[in-house]
Parts: sequence; structure tokens; C-alpha cells
Amino acid sequence: MAQKINFILNNVELSVESATGKTLLDFIRKDAKLTGTKEGCCREGDCGACTVLIGEIINDELHYKSVNSCLYPIGKVNGKHVVTIEGINSDELTPVQHAYTEENASQCGFCTPGFIISTTGYLLKNDKPNIDSAINAVAGNVCRCTGYVSIKRALNDIVEEMKLYDNSDNVITELISKKYIPEYFSTIKERLKRLEIIELKESNKTLIVGGGTDLYVQREDDLKNEDLVFVSADAAEKIYKEGNSIFITGSTTFQELAHSDVIKELIPNIEEVNKLIASLPIRNSATIAGNIVNASPIADMTIILLTLNTALHLNDNRTVPLREFFLGYKTLAKSETEIIEKIEIQIPEGKTLFNFEKVSKRTHLDIASVNSAFIISLEDKKIVSCGLSIGGVAPIPLFLKETSAYLEGKDLDTETIKGALKIIDKEISPISDVRGSAEYKRLLAKQMFKSHFIKLFPDKISVEDL
Ligand SMILES: Cc1cc2nc3c(=O)[nH]c(=O)nc-3n(C[C@H](O)[C@H](O)[C@H](O)COP(=O)(O)OP(=O)(O)OC[C@H]3O[C@@H](n4cnc5c(N)ncnc54)[C@H](O)[C@@H]3O)c2cc1C
Ligand code: FES
Ligand code: FES
Repeated sequence: MAQKINFILNNVELSVESATGKTLLDFIRKDAKLTGTKEGCCREGDCGACTVLIGEIINDELHYKSVNSCLYPIGKVNGKHVVTIEGINSDELTPVQHAYTEENASQCGFCTPGFIISTTGYLLKNDKPNIDSAINAVAGNVCRCTGYVSIKRALNDIVEEMKLYDNSDNVITELISKKYIPEYFSTIKERLKRLEIIELKESNKTLIVGGGTDLYVQREDDLKNEDLVFVSADAAEKIYKEGNSIFITGSTTFQELAHSDVIKELIPNIEEVNKLIASLPIRNSATIAGNIVNASPIADMTIILLTLNTALHLNDNRTVPLREFFLGYKTLAKSETEIIEKIEIQIPEGKTLFNFEKVSKRTHLDIASVNSAFIISLEDKKIVSCGLSIGGVAPIPLFLKETSAYLEGKDLDTETIKGALKIIDKEISPISDVRGSAEYKRLLAKQMFKSHFIKLFPDKISVEDL
């Protein structure tokens, strides 16, 4: 069913009649005929050629993020600003485009619009650029012919030039004045406020979409003509503390979670952990609830949440402990139409330490062969409480109940760890698949468990002892 979706595409206000499930990429290329945005990878979120920016007002400020338009339903741009490469272009090259040309960072040019968009999005997000975070921002963009050294040189030039303009209060104004983005960006906030936002209808109560990063890879054909159920919430209030709990709205994205001060209190290295998951445009879309419901045995955020006492609040007032949510391979303790509205984490008592391990064929931008998370709190030498989870070693993301129970109350020493390793062996049941043989995964699981202790307690536990 076609319905009205109002948004701004580059400098043009649009009211589009479309099924909300159509991909933004199809709208941009086929309907709006803006062919600068490319499709490079069978629409799987792997190449970044389709990257666009989405601008929205949060807390009365205009924020931009990069997303893969091949996995982004057009219904989600209702009331927002979409920026394609055509919306960055003006009569002369922008300093970003200039740096890519000067450094020979473009050859056939197919990937280049995606790189320019990701780099410009990075500058819109970041008024204190540095080369590491700039590289991280384009890590979801693949170039098959130029080579990354020249792209890195271009990024370096951009970062160095931006340092000259440090201390800007208003990034958008600053970028306009230096011609990184066109003048019309100064009008977007007011124009977005004036847009008439029409509430979208849902035609199929079972097609629930968070970020779409799983659904669109698997089922685009089922979705593109449908009006979907979009799970969204006021972006300003997605993660908060109440009593002894932390509440995370289901539609919270990986990127929002990793930058939350509330989460950082519990998992101080969450930003570093987050960088091991997918690419920035995926992390800008992928939601925590989507990661849980997708129920992949190696779902990274789910593995992290399983270490904690976590409960899922569903829209019909039911609450299910996360550790009881996975009944079998992709079988869940919820009906097709139930929506995860909130995820509640009980804040552990005392000081906790957290570690996350992930082994995949590539360090970055790859799903895990095996992943594991561990949280522990100690009193003197005794383990007061702990939670261990391991992914890729069972049909479900696995909380190791028996191993965790065994560890509690024991002294922190090598004997305890060796005893726990025997229980892990019984609790896991890996199978051989493309990501590794069962023996390899069993070995990885045990090495990761040791690694948690070696990393968290380098003065007490050493590789040699284990
Ligand atoms: C290129 C690429 C790389 C990836 N890398 C990783 C990785 O490194 N680690 C990792 O863990 N995952 C990875 N993923 C998988 C995916 O991004 C995550 O699983 C993500 O969390 C899915 O969330 P989503 O919001 O996009 O889910 P969606 O695709 O929107 O939905 C997934 C499922 O969850 C359901 N759902 C969504 N929200 C709700 C809700 N609130 N209530 C009830 N049901 C809901 C949907 O109906 C659907 O069944 C990757 C995906 C891609 C495309
Ligand atoms: S077409 Fe490759 S990420 Fe979208
Ligand atoms: S310039 Fe050819 S793919 Fe990047």
C-alpha cells in the first residue's frame, strides 16, 4: 500500500507515495534518478557504495549519521533529511572531494561517492577529527581498485586541515563557511521543524523492523511492497537509570549504546568493543532489540547482555529474562507480534570488571567464529558474582549457567579457572560450519575464558599458569 512519506532529499522537500518497506536505495536511484549513490555488493551492507546521510533533530539539535541505503526502509526517513552525493556537490569540489582527487584516492570512482559521504558525515559528527576515528568512519567503505594508502593520505589531509578550524561551536556553520557542505544545510533544521509528519500505517503486524540490517539482507523481497511496523522511540531518552536498573529502549542503536555515559559506567570499554562489531553505517542502524530477536548464536550485543541480569519488557506488559528467551535455534519465548520495548539491566552490586573477546576471520567488519563476554566482581580474593556467556558454541547465544555458578564463592586462582574449564567443556556443544570446526570452536571458547582472566587480572593470572 502506498502512503505519504514527507522528508527532505538534499535541498528538496518531498512528499512521496510509497510502501514504507521500499529501500531508500531504490527510491534514490530508480525514482529520484540520483545515480551517484551506488549498489556494490548485492545489498548486504558490505561495500558502503550506497552510503547516505540521515539528518534528524534530537534535543533541538540537527544530527547526521551515515547509513547503508540498501538496508534502510524509506518509511524510516519520514520527517528527516536525506543527503546523497548530489546534495554535497556544488560548482567546485568540496575540500573532501579535493583531497581525494589530489591524493589519487579514486580510480574507477565507483566507491568514491560512498567514501565522500562517509567522510563528510564524519566531519558533521566530529569537530575534533583525528586520523584513527576518520579511518573508523570509512571502515564500512570498500574500494576494489585504488588501494587504501592513498585514501588514508586523503583522510590525513582532511584531518590536518580541519585541525586549523578547531573549537567551532557550530559544526554545520563551520563546515558551510569552509565549503565542506553547501549553504542550504543552514536551512535544514527550520525546514525539518516545519515538515508535516504524517503517522505511518502498518499493513502487516508481524513485519517488525528495528534497523533492518538483518531483515533486509534476508528478506528484502517480502518487505519492499509492505507497510512495516517501525520500532522507534524518542532518541533523547533511550538509555536511563531508574532505581537499581538501567533501561535501554529496544530501538537503541549500537552506536547510541556505545556512547552512553550510563552504559560506560558499567562497561567502561564499550566504545572499543563496539568497534569490533560491523561497520559504522551498520552500527548507526542496528538496534539492540534486533540483535536479540535475530537470535544469531554469535550476536555480539546479546552475548554482552547475557552476562548481566537482563530482562526484556514486551509491549503486552510481559517480562522475560534474557537468559530464558532463547528456547532453541531461532526459537524465542515471544510471539511474532510481540515487540521488545525496553531492556532492563539490574546494576550489579559492588565494583565489576568486564571483558569481551571476539575471534573472527578478520578483526574488523566480520561476524564472530566464537565470541565471549565476562563480568566479575571480587571481594578480597573471592569471586562474589560473575556472568559468563559464549557465542558460536551452541544453537543459541549461550549463558554458561553452571560455569558461572561454579565460579561464585571461589578464590580467584588458577585452580578455580582450571576447574571451570572442565565445566565449560560440558556446557558447550559447538558444531563444525564455515566459521570453523567444532574442535576449533571448543578450543577458542576455552582460550577466551582464560583470556578474560589474563586481561582482567594480569598481576594474578598469567598465561604460563594456565
Ligand atoms: C554487514 C553486516 C555486518 C554485521 N555485523 C555484525 C556483527 O559484527 N555482530 C553482530 O552481532 N551482528 C552483526 N550484523 C547483524 C545485524 O546488524 C545485527 O544483528 C543487528 O543488531 C540487527 O538489528 P536490527 O535492528 O537491524 O534488526 P532488524 O533487521 O530490524 O530485525 C531483526 C529481527 O528482529 C526483529 N525486531 C527488531 N526490533 C524488534 C523489537 N523491538 N521487538 C521485537 N522484534 C524486533 C525483527 O522483526 C527481525 O526479526 C551485521 C549485519 C550486517 C548487514
Ligand atoms: S550496496 Fe553494498 S552496502 Fe549497500
Ligand atoms: S576507485 Fe574503483 S572501487 Fe574504489
